[in-house]
Amino acid sequence: MKRIRITQQITYVEPDSMTDFTSCAGIIVQSKKKVMIDVNMGARETPGLIKEEKPEAAIITHYHLDHSLWTRHVKRFSDAVLFVPEAEAPYLTSLDFFMEHTAGQCSIAGKWKNFTKNLGYKELKNYECYNEHTSFQDMAPEIVLIETPGHSPSHTSFYFPDEKILFSGDMGLDRFGPWYGWADCNIKQILDSILRLDGLAVNLILTSHGGVIKKDIQKRWAQCIGHIFKREEKIIQKLEAGMSRQDIIQQGVFFSNKEKVKEPMQSFLNAWDTIMYNHHEDLIKEGGLMKFFPEIKAMLK
Ligand SMILES: [Fe+2]
Repeated sequence: MKRIRITQQITYVEPDSMTDFTSCAGIIVQSKKKVMIDVNMGARETPGLIKEEKPEAAIITHYHLDHSLWTRHVKRFSDAVLFVPEAEAPYLTSLDFFMEHTAGQCSIAGKWKNFTKNLGYKELKNYECYNEHTSFQDMAPEIVLIETPGHSPSHTSFYFPDEKILFSGDMGLDRFGPWYGWADCNIKQILDSILRLDGLAVNLILTSHGGVIKKDIQKRWAQCIGHIFKREEKIIQKLEAGMSRQDIIQQGVFFSNKEKVKEPMQSFLNAWDTIMYNHHEDLIKEGGLMKFFPEIKAMLK
């Protein structure tokens, strides 16, 4: 685990490894009280970190396993109040709901359920819900919550306006770009969310999977949108060249070289790429990204 002191108040914590989608980077905020956001350092390191830091609040940006698995350690090793996004609470409190709204009826459903249980998914019992209007007045009044759905139904980013710092969670500001591999993801919402965050005054972004971004922030948002736009363009070109949907997915929408990956991950990557393809196909049928977001044309130049 690596700790980077960002300001007197904010420490960025990164796990040693993020393989297999089981951990993510997060932040520890020392304000009126100590608040941890998305501090999922993996099953080995998280309990020790919670015991050492003794947070008074623990927050997650969204329900995905790599962001939520650490919550099961919070109550065991601290007295922290756990906050989850209101609209995503059902994913965290019911394995059946989680399964139905992720793998659903896909062929991977059985493997995905085993994978989820093996990683330690536990139905949450003690938690509080937050939404964009929640204020952490008694704990960290400087935090502003910004709803940034699309990657998940209620993904939330955390903004520190005084210091112009943004914790952007899984907005896709990494070299892979935005991910939308479940049916509950939404490309148009992702675009709205990116444009919303791009409109904020920000000097520094802390991401869940792409490290710390200190410069060229507007360019990085444009690149983020560029990833989605290029995927759409590629799919259209391949369809026009007569390629089948199956071949396009096999070549990769988000994940290439899937055949080299071991099971069950290979099946998951195939399912996620299929779903991402479906999201693009739906949007292309509606007229494509540029029809809904003509303003991105200038950004992508
Ligand atoms: Fe995520």
